Amino acid sequence: MDEYVIEKVTKHLFGTWRLQRDWASPLNIVGGEGAYLIDSKGRRYLDFSSQLVCVNLGYGNRRIIEAVKRQLDELAYLGPGYATQIRAEAVEALANVLPNKLSKFVFSSSGSEANEDAIKIARAFKYPKYKILARYWSYHGNTAGAISLTGDPRRNVVEMHTSMGGVVRIPDPYCYRCPFGEMGCDECGRACLEYIDYILRNEGHVAAIFLETITGTNGVIVPPKDFYPRLRKLADEYGVLLIFDEVMSGWGRTGSWFAFEHWGVVPDIMTTAKGATSSYVPIGITAVDVEVADYFSERFLPVGHTFAYHLLAMAAMKAAIEEYKSGGYIENARRVGEYLGKRLRELMDKHPSIGDVRGMGLFWGVELVKNRETKEPFNTREDKIMGRKLMTQKVARKMLEHGVLLPMAWISNFVIAPPLVVTEEDIDLGVEALDKALKIADEAVEG
Ligand SMILES: Cc1ncc(COP(=O)(O)O)c(C=O)c1O
Repeated sequence: MDEYVIEKVTKHLFGTWRLQRDWASPLNIVGGEGAYLIDSKGRRYLDFSSQLVCVNLGYGNRRIIEAVKRQLDELAYLGPGYATQIRAEAVEALANVLPNKLSKFVFSSSGSEANEDAIKIARAFKYPKYKILARYWSYHGNTAGAISLTGDPRRNVVEMHTSMGGVVRIPDPYCYRCPFGEMGCDECGRACLEYIDYILRNEGHVAAIFLETITGTNGVIVPPKDFYPRLRKLADEYGVLLIFDEVMSGWGRTGSWFAFEHWGVVPDIMTTAKGATSSYVPIGITAVDVEVADYFSERFLPVGHTFAYHLLAMAAMKAAIEEYKSGGYIENARRVGEYLGKRLRELMDKHPSIGDVRGMGLFWGVELVKNRETKEPFNTREDKIMGRKLMTQKVARKMLEHGVLLPMAWISNFVIAPPLVVTEEDIDLGVEALDKALKIADEAVEG
């Protein structure tokens, strides 16, 4: 049975973001329960990254499953131009968990599309301003606009044929690898913000600043405390929109509904996806400030999708929001997340191959290095594109033998982000698997 499944899947489907020869023997998964997935041999695996940081409420959530089934029985699809009960209830629920000003929405089917819609809305609103500031350590999706905003190497392999113009790079508040040299985060006067100020003053035609509130795949980069309040001020001063991509960092992941709440700063547009339905049904959301939205009451809105406001997505999102509200998941992300952070930091004392540990809630990055002194990584962006074996992948493969799945192993970083249902015992299982598997990396440490 395994042979049939794996042969057909790898024969007919592309493996994503990889050389195709490297997708030879995927696990044959037959089910899931809570934070665990089960393979065809009945083996259980702790999902230590909620797949692509998206199954926030875990597997087999009855409330979402029943809601989607009910909606399927009632009506599965209707074009975006109609009013229905489930649409009304779902968007009311969404508006209630967002700040008041973010109460006009476009829905789509993915984070990439949500970002495309945000780009178009921002540019139309700010026309003729069109430039968008974005970071090097970022991922915003695989469609033309979203991949052009992206700073990681997934952009480099396509930019010569699909690039969207008008993207200006700004420095990252990446304190472990500060682009301005070895400054301690506390002493630093925020050279990155000063440089953004300089760009805003001199660039011209800037419509928006587009950022993952907390950079996800590229290493869970949490900006310092004053970064967003000061960036919000700069955006207001120069009259540009502030857009937060909460595709990964939203939905309880960091111990609050959305990550921007930690900084007390509200964006003009927020995009999200993934955890909105806990990934039971595809979804993308672009939430827009009512003042920006008002602009389109007398002007054409250049946005729409066949699957906008899909009824199954609406039913799944409404049920997911009820579940987030009543199930204690966000509090659990805070409480168990603190424990996860403590356990990961303890690993640093033991493993010279760990360069940095950072994160909040149930959203943590572990960055591997060949040399702690020089911070030289085991692998480069080019290694990923060339299909060279990455140290993070070797470690993740070893963890599998200990019953832990960690698919979010990107170049030199792990994203550790289990479903928000996890307990401290689950965390122990995951951290102990990482502890054992890191022997491979420790043995390759130099210096
Ligand atoms: C921060 C961020 N934005 C956008 C996307 C793109 O979302 P999707 O894969 O649903 O198109 C992702 C996907 O991982 C992401 O992490």
